Amino acid sequence: MTDHDVTIVLPERGDPRFDQVEALFAEHIEHLRTVGQLVPFVENAAQLWRSSVEKAVGRIGTVQIAVDRDEVVAFCYGLIRALPDYLGGEKFATMPHFYVKESHRGSGVGTRLRESFAQWCFERGCTSIESYVSPGDSVAFTFWQRAGFAVEHTQIRNFLTS
Ligand SMILES: CC(C)(COP(=O)(O)OP(=O)(O)OC[C@H]1O[C@@H](n2cnc3c(N)ncnc32)[C@H](O)[C@@H]1OP(=O)(O)O)[C@@H](O)C(=O)NCCC(=O)NCCS
Repeated sequence: MTDHDVTIVLPERGDPRFDQVEALFAEHIEHLRTVGQLVPFVENAAQLWRSSVEKAVGRIGTVQIAVDRDEVVAFCYGLIRALPDYLGGEKFATMPHFYVKESHRGSGVGTRLRESFAQWCFERGCTSIESYVSPGDSVAFTFWQRAGFAVEHTQIRNFLTS
C-alpha cells in the first residue's frame, strides 16, 4: 500500500481545479460503462455535469476533492435533499458520484473523502447518506459496506421499444 499524503479541499465555484474534476468525471464515466450503467452518457457528459454541479456548490451541493500536491486525485459530489413527509421529512444527502484515481486507490484516500463528506452532511443536519453502486462494481460495494452502508433498493430499468 502506498502512503499518499493528500489534502481534502472543498473548492468554490470558479476554482480552476474544476478542470481536473471534470477530467476525473470523464474517467469515472468510463468506469461506470464497465460495471453496468445502462443509460449511455452523451458525448460532452463531463462538461455538462461540471456546469450543473458548479452551480449547486456552496448552496445545496458540495464537491470535495483529494489533492496530492497540485493534482486532484479523487472527488465526491453530493446534494442535500429532504425525505417526503410520509417518510418523516428529514434531511438526507444523496451522493451520486465518488471516484478515486487508479494510482491512488487502496491507500485510504476514499475513506478520507467519505469521512469529509459525511462530516459536511452531519453539520447540515442530514440524518443519512444514500449512494448508488452498479451491479458489477464489487470493489465499490465492499468499500461502502465496510463503511456501514446497507442495500435499500435495487434499481431496475427496461428500455421501451415502439
Ligand atoms: C471504491 C473506491 C472509491 C475505494 O477508494 P479507495 O481510496 O481505494 O479506498 P480505501 O483505500 O479508503 O479503502 C477503504 C476500504 O475499502 C475496501 N476496498 C478498497 N479497495 C478494495 C479492493 N480493491 N478490493 C476489496 N476491498 C477494497 C476495503 O475494505 C478498504 O478497507 P481496508 O483497507 O481496511 O481493507 C475506489 O476504488 C474507486 O473510486 N473505484 C472506482 C470508481 C468507483 O467504483 N466509484 C464508486 C462508485 S459509487
